[in-house]
Amino acid sequence: MIRGMFSYRHAFHAGNHADVLKHVVLVHLLRHLAAKATPFWVIDTHAGAGLYSLEGEWAAKRGEFADGIVRVWSRTDAPATVAEYLDVVRAANPDGMLRHYPGSPFIALAHLRADDRLRLFEMHPNEVGVLAGNVAEAGRDVARRTIVRREDGFDGLKALLPPPPRRALVLIDPSYEDKRDYSRVVGTLRDALGRFATGCYLVWYPQVQRREPAEMVRRLERLPGLRWVHATLTVRAPSPEGLGLHGSGVFVVNPPWTLEPALRVAMPWLAGALAQDAGASWSIAASGDASSRAPATARAARARPPQARPR
Ligand SMILES: C[S@@+](CC[C@H](N)C(=O)[O-])C[C@H]1O[C@@H](n2cnc3c(N)ncnc32)[C@H](O)[C@@H]1O
Repeated sequence: MIRGMFSYRHAFHAGNHADVLKHVVLVHLLRHLAAKATPFWVIDTHAGAGLYSLEGEWAAKRGEFADGIVRVWSRTDAPATVAEYLDVVRAANPDGMLRHYPGSPFIALAHLRADDRLRLFEMHPNEVGVLAGNVAEAGRDVARRTIVRREDGFDGLKALLPPPPRRALVLIDPSYEDKRDYSRVVGTLRDALGRFATGCYLVWYPQVQRREPAEMVRRLERLPGLRWVHATLTVRAPSPEGLGLHGSGVFVVNPPWTLEPALRVAMPWLAGALAQDAGASWSIAASGDASSRAPATARAARARPPQARPR
């Protein structure tokens, strides 16, 4: 896969702290699905380009991966859940130099077996072209398992549910550049659960200084009868001017029972490794917990201050 085409458009964000959190959780969910022999589907409603180059002057100077994957890439003390994610990133960089970052489609492909399927939606004309090229270049087996569509992922999801094997992971990872994405996530999830109640859904969202993310999470938590785990990773204090991404969150519906204990070990480690200032923190809540009814600030634990980074 490293022969692939690379997107420069998102090279900016690829491998940042938010990707690290999202992809650690993604790998855990994929490994859980692949632990059973029965086939499963992965549906990625906002797939991106699939592979990103971290090289080039532009990426090297401004790329957010310096405060993301670079900080954890060579750590040898990562908890198992993080180490399993690092193994996937390392497999995309077989010469040991961090040059490429796999997006969610290629992280999924690393776990798919012969009868598993991958369905990808991507709206951006350049990104979808790069993605389709990368899938084609990855070989006939990958291409046979994968369908790439240039369609709206929120709408496109409906037609795929329930997927034939009745086991599936749906990643809902919009860019939230359009603030309507927040309410579309809630509407899409409600609709999807009506069609496929037992699916596992992973929703990613940014921690930014506006009311929509917290409102979205409140609405997700209140969907009736839902089992979920919600984790946040804040890497710095919100900026005084109100801009920027100071962290992110993942909301997992129908999580495997292994997810919460795994995150209880992984999150403090990640928060320590990715902390940019003393405002770093993490939180975990789950449906049914007393803690899930407490305000997020009461659940948040302070991360260790930034540590010396191994090179
Ligand atoms: C955060 S990126 C995806 C990253 C990818 N899921 C990963 O983890 O590697 C969001 C992508 O969604 C695409 N996009 C935006 N609106 C969309 C829509 N309505 N349907 C499908 N894709 C969309 C953007 O072009 C962008 O490539």
